[in-house]
Order: sequence, then structure tokens, then C-alpha cells
Amino acid sequence: MGFESDYIWMDGELVAYKDATVPFLSSALHYGLGVFEGIRCYATEQGPAIFRLRDHMQRLLNSAHILGFKEVGYNLDQLCDAVKQTIKANKMDRCYIRPLIHHVADTPNLNLDNGEAHIGIAVWRWDSYLGAEAQQNGIRVNVSSFTRHHPNVMMTKSKMTGNYSNSVLAKTESVRLGFDEAIMLDPQGYVSECTSENLFIVRGGRIQTPLSSTVLEGITRDTLIVLANDLGYSMEEKVMVRDQLYIADEIFVTGTAAEVVAVTEVDFRKIGSGQMGAVTHALQQAFQSVVTGSHARSSEWLEYVNV
Ligand SMILES: Cc1ncc(COP(=O)(O)O)c(C=O)c1O
Repeated sequence: MGFESDYIWMDGELVAYKDATVPFLSSALHYGLGVFEGIRCYATEQGPAIFRLRDHMQRLLNSAHILGFKEVGYNLDQLCDAVKQTIKANKMDRCYIRPLIHHVADTPNLNLDNGEAHIGIAVWRWDSYLGAEAQQNGIRVNVSSFTRHHPNVMMTKSKMTGNYSNSVLAKTESVRLGFDEAIMLDPQGYVSECTSENLFIVRGGRIQTPLSSTVLEGITRDTLIVLANDLGYSMEEKVMVRDQLYIADEIFVTGTAAEVVAVTEVDFRKIGSGQMGAVTHALQQAFQSVVTGSHARSSEWLEYVNV
């Protein structure tokens, strides 16, 4: 499955895929001066529907604000419309959506104020980030040798492109070691998140997730907290340590790309039964029914493209 689509929205215009390019000397490319989002659009009986579009686009604007852009040229409504326009132009019934605000400058420098924000929105077919098998059977993970960002080194509430070198270090190491994904510890040694997912454990029927202080405030994480409460589970945000992972009954990870996936092994230690547990399964089912339009909360969170 490649990136290709018919059009990419660039600064207000729909541009043919092959013409949607940025200069080699882009400061975004050289210094990581960009912020992005990852959003999913699902096929439903009422046509394509985008999951929590406004929340994602607000996080995009927040990310730009955190990085320090004073002006991005578009407001929330305009950006949401642009996403819908891009999906319609590409005639997608479902897709992954990648908006990116990137810095363009005429001279090499590290000052964000020398240059301006440009915006692109791409869509592509991307059914499963960790694979269909992972959705069914879960994944094997390691605790990374790389530490997650200190919150005053990189801004963890912002999806800045430069932040993701840290994820790439961990993910590449993990896959080279034969695992599917990495869990990262924060600079104090507490469990934080995966390279592109938040993390939850289940123990004695109670669900826990690390505090939001050093992790990305995942929109899927927030969704799962609501769904778990709806289903009557006890849900707590708290400091979590590595060996609490090992003795959990269940672990699952959440993210727009990965959705809801069980973790069946950490550092060669089986988690619970070594298979997806009942709580994870119930939450995965609830999430799938929300995003495909058949849950009581679907209308709250889905934005239909053709309405
Ligand atoms: C570092 C990191 N943590 C968590 C997540 C999950 O966030 P969301 O559920 O909003 O996709 C992502 C993906 O955006 C991520 O990159």
C-alpha cells in the first residue's frame, strides 16, 4: 500500500500528486520545523466519516502554537473544510489523512520568525499500521533502550516532525530485535508511551494509563477513557513502572494509525494468557463500532464528508 492519491491540498489548492513537492533546501526537511496530524476517515453506511476531525485539527493548531508559529494562515473551520475537500477530490471511501504545517524560508536559519508556515494535506489508503494480524492476535514489544523526551527538551504535547527522530530510533531498534513495537520510559524511568501509540494496562479488572504529563495527549487514548467508563470499568491515570507491565493481566496500545491493539509479550515475558484479553477485546469492539457509525457515541465523534 503506497502513499499515492490523485491530489494533495497545498496552501489552498488541490495539486496533482506528482506536483506536490517542497524545495530540497526546506527548513522543515533540514531542521524538523513542521507539525503534523494523523487522522482516519472510515467507510460507514452514510459514506466516508472522519473520526474526531475538529479535535485533530485543533491539536494541529496547538502543535503549531507550541512550536512557535505566530500565524498559519487558516482557522479551524477552514482546515476542517480543506480535509473534506481533499477526501472528496480523491474519491476515497476511507483513508488516512496527513495534514502538515511546514516552515519555508529563503535563508538557512533556526529562527522560526524568518520564514512562514505552509500547509499541505495528503490522504492515502492505509488499512492497518501494525497489520491485520496484530489487530487479531496482538503484538510483541520491548522496552526501548532509548528514553522518551524530557518535557522541557522536546514538547510532548506537540506533534512536531523533529520529535519523531526519537520514535524512529526506538522503532527501528525494536523491529531489528524482532519485536513489533517499543515501549518507551520517560527520563525518570517511568513508563510513558510507544513510538506512536499510548499505552494502557489492565490488572484485576482495573484499567490504568500513564499520566498525560510526558506523553502525547492521544485522541484515541481520550476516546478509550470515555468508552471504558461507559462500559463500567475503573480507569485511572497514574505513574507506572516497568515491572507493572510484566505482571499486568492485559496491555493494549491505542493510536489513530494502530487503533486498539493488544500487547501479548513485553521483553520476552508473556502478558496474562499471552493472548488478547477480554477487556481489550471489549474495548476494541466498542472502538470499531464507534468509528464505523454503529455506536451511540458515533454521532458525537464522526464527521460525515458528504453531509
Ligand atoms: C507519540 C505518540 N503517542 C501517541 C499517539 C496516539 O495519538 P492519537 O490517538 O491521537 O493518534 C501518537 C499518534 O499520533 C503518537 O505519535
